[in-house]
Amino acid sequence: MILEINKDNIKELANSFISTEYVEKELSNNPFGVFLILKENEEIIGYLYYSDIYERAEINQFEINYIHRNCGKGSILLSYFLKKVDKDVTLEVREDNKEAIHLYEKNGFIKRAIRSNYYGHKDGILMERKK
Ligand SMILES: CC(C)(COP(=O)(O)OP(=O)(O)OC[C@H]1O[C@@H](n2cnc3c(N)ncnc32)[C@H](O)[C@@H]1OP(=O)(O)O)[C@@H](O)C(=O)NCCC(=O)NCCS
Repeated sequence: MILEINKDNIKELANSFISTEYVEKELSNNPFGVFLILKENEEIIGYLYYSDIYERAEINQFEINYIHRNCGKGSILLSYFLKKVDKDVTLEVREDNKEAIHLYEKNGFIKRAIRSNYYGHKDGILMERKK
């Protein structure tokens, strides 16, 4: 099950790997922010936090709890999100994050630009997926 988290159902995050304080802060500071969570058998598997900014969406954070990685859960959540927003999507990822880059490319994202040394000695890569 994938659901959107807001002020009314934020208690869903209790006892999960996602910090309620972090989500609360982002939702109150970012008027464009949306949190989607993937939940299975009462366990929160992962989340995707994005900003829905007029004609495009930007992925801010995307994480699957480490014990559930490489089982296709990230793909499920990413596909759901892409279908839901149905618009151009941008994101930024660290150059050595091979799993994430693989997943993004598999879902139609392409590398658009480099942010040199954005992460200390590692570059950030700006990726985009056209609708
Ligand atoms: C990125 C992330 C969300 C992916 O979630 P996931 O549930 O593991 O994703 P999936 O299992 O659906 O897909 C992972 C893919 O990466 C591939 N992969 C795994 N290790 C890899 C590596 N070293 N190099 C390239 N591809 C790799 C897997 O084979 C799989 O691809 P496939 O479906 O074609 O076989 C997860 O790794 C994560 O939470 N990472 C930490 C947070 C993060 O970096 N988020 C992205 C920020 S931009």
